[in-house]
Amino acid sequence: MSRHRDVRKLDYDEEYDEAYDEDVYGHSVDDSEYGVSPGMEQYLYSPSRETTHGFGLYFPTSEDIKEEEEVDGGDLGRRNSEDRSRHDSSGYEKPPLSPEEEILLSSVLDELHNILGDQYSDAELTRIAITHNFQLEAALNTLLNKSAPSAASTAAAAATSQPLPQRERRQRSRGSTGVTPAEGVEQLSLSSAQPQDRGKQAPRANAATNRVQKEASAVAVITTPDNRSMDEKSPAPVVFATPAKGGSSSSKVVRGFVLDAEDGATPAAESNQEDQESKRSRSSTPVRSGFNKERDNLGATPLAKTPAKIRDKAVDVGSEYREQRGEGKVLLNLVVVGHVDAGKSTLMGHLLYLRGNVGQRTMHKYEQESRKLGKQSFMYAWVLDDTEEERSRGVTVDVAQRVFETDNKVVTLLDAPGHRDFIPNMITGAARADVAVLVVDASKGEFEAGFESGGQTREHAILIRSLGLSQLTVAVNKLDVAEWSEERFREIRHSLRQFLKTIGFKDSDVVYIPCSGLTGENLVEPGKDARLCSWYSGPTLLQAIDQMQVPERGVNRPVRMCAGDIYKGQGSSMCVSGRLETGYIQAGDRLLLLPQGDVLTVKSVQTDSGGGVGSAFAGDHVTLMVGGVDPSSLHVGDFLCDPSHPIPLATRVQARIVVFNIVVPLIKGAQVDFHYQATTEPARIRKLVSQLHKTTGQLVKSRPRALVKNSAALVELEFTRPLCLELFRDYKEFGRFMLRSAGTTVAAGLITQILA
Ligand code: GTP
Ligand code: MG
Repeated sequence: MSRHRDVRKLDYDEEYDEAYDEDVYGHSVDDSEYGVSPGMEQYLYSPSRETTHGFGLYFPTSEDIKEEEEVDGGDLGRRNSEDRSRHDSSGYEKPPLSPEEEILLSSVLDELHNILGDQYSDAELTRIAITHNFQLEAALNTLLNKSAPSAASTAAAAATSQPLPQRERRQRSRGSTGVTPAEGVEQLSLSSAQPQDRGKQAPRANAATNRVQKEASAVAVITTPDNRSMDEKSPAPVVFATPAKGGSSSSKVVRGFVLDAEDGATPAAESNQEDQESKRSRSSTPVRSGFNKERDNLGATPLAKTPAKIRDKAVDVGSEYREQRGEGKVLLNLVVVGHVDAGKSTLMGHLLYLRGNVGQRTMHKYEQESRKLGKQSFMYAWVLDDTEEERSRGVTVDVAQRVFETDNKVVTLLDAPGHRDFIPNMITGAARADVAVLVVDASKGEFEAGFESGGQTREHAILIRSLGLSQLTVAVNKLDVAEWSEERFREIRHSLRQFLKTIGFKDSDVVYIPCSGLTGENLVEPGKDARLCSWYSGPTLLQAIDQMQVPERGVNRPVRMCAGDIYKGQGSSMCVSGRLETGYIQAGDRLLLLPQGDVLTVKSVQTDSGGGVGSAFAGDHVTLMVGGVDPSSLHVGDFLCDPSHPIPLATRVQARIVVFNIVVPLIKGAQVDFHYQATTEPARIRKLVSQLHKTTGQLVKSRPRALVKNSAALVELEFTRPLCLELFRDYKEFGRFMLRSAGTTVAAGLITQILA
C-alpha cells in the first residue's frame, strides 16, 4: 500500500504522533484509518460495512445452492433436533418423554418435515405433535388449517418469484407440450409398486395404494402431461397425511422420491396401467440404434438385422405359469449386503450348511484348508467365497450365487462384497434381487464403523433402496461377541430404524434378527444360548427370509434380460446367464441381441433354481444356451429382448437424480460412471436442466450452476455409445441407475426421457 502514499513528503512527526498516540497504542488498528488507495478500498473487508459490502456481493446470488442438513445416522434425530432447537426462537420447553415417545416424536417430525418442508420450527412441530398424541394426520391438519391462507399466499409468491426462463424462445420451440421442466417429470418413485407389505390382503391394499398414489401426486403438486387433468381439477395444493404406522398404506416423500405404499396393486390393474403407460411412452420414445446410420435414417424400421418373431406359435404365458409354477414354491431373489467383514459370507455359508446345501465332507475340507492358511474363522465364508483370491484375502470380491429353500420359497442367494472397492459388483448383485438382508456387526466399535459416514452399512442401505428394494431383514450379527446383550441389540436397532426411515424404508418392511453367523445361533433353529433366550423369542433368520414378500413378476410383458455372464457351452454354442427381468423364454425362441442387432436362437433354457428346465419366467436367474450368433459379438452387459419389442437405444437421456452426500458438487460436464444393470459406462452430465425440490419435486431453479449434496435435479446424461435403456415408468427394473465418481456413489436416478 505504501507505494500509493506520498512517502517522500511525509511528516514523520505527525505520523509518529498518530500511530503511537496513547489512545490507540495496543488497540487493533481500524482499517479505515489506513491509507488505502480509493481504488482498493472497495475491495477490502470492513466489519463496519459488512451489511452493505460483503464478499457475497462479488458473487452471483445462488439461492438454489443451499447447504442441506447432513443425514447422519444413529444420533441423527438427536443431533438434528439439537441443531434445530438451537435455531428455534420460540423457547418452547419439551416435556420429558419416554424412549418410545421419543421415537414416535422423531418419526412424526420426520414425516411433517417431509411434507411441510422447513416452514415450521421444530419446537412448534414438537408441541403440536405432542398435543395430538403423535398422530401425524391430526397434527398435519392442525398445522395446515392454521396456515391455509399463508400457504396459499406463499404458493402465489413462489409462482411469481419463480425464475424466468433464460431462453424463453428456445424452450418454447423445443417443448411442444409447453410444460416447465419440472412439470414434465413424473414423480420419482423408489418403489416397484408391487405387493410388498408382509401379510397384507391384496384387494384392500390395492384400494389403499390407489388412494396413496393420489395422495402422493397431491403432495407432490406436480403435473405430468398425463395427469394434468388431476391438477386442473384441484388447483390448490392439497396435502394428505397418511398414518405413520399401523395403516395398510403410507406414502412418504423422501428426498425427491415419493415412496408409494407398495402393497398390492393387483397384477391386472398394475399391468393395465403399465401397458397404458408403456404405449404412451413408446410413441414418444425414439427406438434408435445410434450405431447404424442407414437404419437411423429409416427411423421406425425394426432393429433386428433380419426381421424375426420371438416364436411362431403364441403361448398363453399366464396359464403356462400357473401350470408350471402354480403348485411349487415361489422364487425369491435375495441379496446379502453390509459393511466389509460384517460376516455376510459366514452367516449365509453357515445357513447353507445348516440347511444341508453343503455336505459335511465339503465343510470338513474347508475347515482343514482354512486352518492351514490360518484363516479357520473363515471356513463358513468359504462356502461362498470360492476363488483363491477371496479365500487368501478373506474378502469377498464378486457376487456369489447359491440356491436354498425355505418352507415356502426357493431363494436365490446373492452374496455381495462389502469392501468399498467392489461396490460396482455389489450394485450388479443388488440390481438382480427382490429383497435384501443387511448384515451388521454388533461387536463394539464395529457397528459404529460401518454406520458412520462413508461406511458401507450406510451406503449399501441407500443403494439397495435406490435400486427399488423395499423389504429388508437386518441381521444383527456377531452378537456372541457382545455377550448376547439385549441392550446392544436395541441400541443398534434404534440407530438403524431412524436411519432406514430417513432413506425410505417403511418400519413395517424391516425386521431385525439377532444372530451369530459363526456359532449358528438363531439362523435356522431358534437360539439356544440362555443369554439370548432370556429376551428373544422372535423369528429365526430363515423364518424372516421366508416371510419376505415376492414382488409381482412381469411374466406377460415383452422379454428383457441383461447378460450378467457369458461363457462357452458345448460345441459351438455359447451360454448367456442373468436374470430374466420380464417375459417368458422357452427353448426355440428367437431373441434380439442389443446393441448389436443380431437375432439369436435359444437352444436350451436352464433356471438356476432348478425349476422349469426348458423355459423361464420373469424373475428367474437363467442360463440360456444360444446359437446363431458370432461368439465374439456377445458381451457381458448386452441385452436380450423380444425382436418385435426392442429395447430403445439411447446416447442421451433426461433423468431425475437424487444427489447423495457428496463433497464436490456436480457440475455441467462432469464425467461419471453410469451403473446400470450389469453394465458400467462412462457418462457425462451434459446439462443441469433444473434443480427440483427434494421433497415435493417442484422446480426450484432452471439451469442451476451446480448440484450440492442431498439435492434433487433433472439432468441430461450423454454416453459415448448407444445403451439399451428404458424409461422408469415403462420398466421399473430397467429405468434405474447409479452414478459413481472417484470410487463413491454420487447419485441415484430414474430415466424420465430418452432424447437421442
Ligand atoms: P466381505 O464379504 O469381505 O465384506 O466380508 P463378510 O461380511 O462376508 O465377512 P466374512 O463372512 O468374510 O467374515 C469376516 C470375519 O468375521 C471372519 O473372521 C468371521 O469368522 C467373522 N465372523 C462372522 N460372523 C461372526 C459371528 O457371528 N461371530 C464372530 N465372533 N465372528 C464372526
Ligand atoms: Mg463376504
